[in-house]
Amino acid sequence: MAQNMIDSIAPLMREAGKIILGAHDADSENCLHVKPGTQNFATDYDIAVQTFLINGLKEAFPGAAFIAEEKENNAAVLQGELCFVIDPIDGTNCFIHNCRMSCISIAAVSRGHVVLGAVYNPYSGELAHATPGGGAFVNGKPAHVSERPTELAVAVFGPSPYYKDTLSVPTFEMARELFCSCVDIHRTGSAAIDLCSIASGSCDMFFELILQPWDIAAGALIIEEAGGIITQIDGSPITLEHPCSVLAGTPKTHPDLLRIGAKYAKYCKGKIYE
Ligand code: IPD
Ligand code: CA
Repeated sequence: MAQNMIDSIAPLMREAGKIILGAHDADSENCLHVKPGTQNFATDYDIAVQTFLINGLKEAFPGAAFIAEEKENNAAVLQGELCFVIDPIDGTNCFIHNCRMSCISIAAVSRGHVVLGAVYNPYSGELAHATPGGGAFVNGKPAHVSERPTELAVAVFGPSPYYKDTLSVPTFEMARELFCSCVDIHRTGSAAIDLCSIASGSCDMFFELILQPWDIAAGALIIEEAGGIITQIDGSPITLEHPCSVLAGTPKTHPDLLRIGAKYAKYCKGKIYE
């Protein structure tokens, strides 16, 4: 089923992408909704894209459950027959500022396992997808992680922008250490795009000290199917049950992420991770 799923989901993602591309007033006060956390916003467009996707997926997959960024969620539905984990706009701040660095992320989960990951960047037109054991693809072409060693790597990271109080100091210390171990470091503003850049080999390592299930559900499978490795900061598997830290890399770079991350693992525990 998962192989054919992309045929139903890709047209929906492309259609939803038009809502993002057609936005004109994303930074207007009327369009913004304040969410919990530091400077955490959603726009009317996040909600419109989410509604469009949920309605379309309900029609194509009757009975499916949903976990999505702009609604109340219950992780128990991950254990059901079919659940879609949706980030309608990953990179909402980029979207508000018209940086053209946002995407739509959808994972299909069955009985706790991701059976399809799809990330669509409407600005570049790139659609990355993967199924377990089926490989990873970008616009239909096989994707593979790089073979660069850490000293030739480009890293990308997310500074957990909604958790500045607790995580900004360890994040930027870890980023500095990483920066000094590789060639350069980037910040895009979309974790799903970052994960896809590891899968396609343009970047080689990624970390963020806290991410939500909808940020990573699709990208994690895409990385693994592209030959990469994704874990929490202590090396344990990532989870979609609650927020977690993320280290993503290649067989060449992930060991260095784990080594550098070890010092910062103590910050990735406690209430905000439960
Ligand atoms: C955010 C982006 C960003 C990451 C944040 C995420 P949102 O998602 O993925 O890159 O640094 O931690 O929350 O809020 O734009 O959907
Ligand atoms: Ca997100």
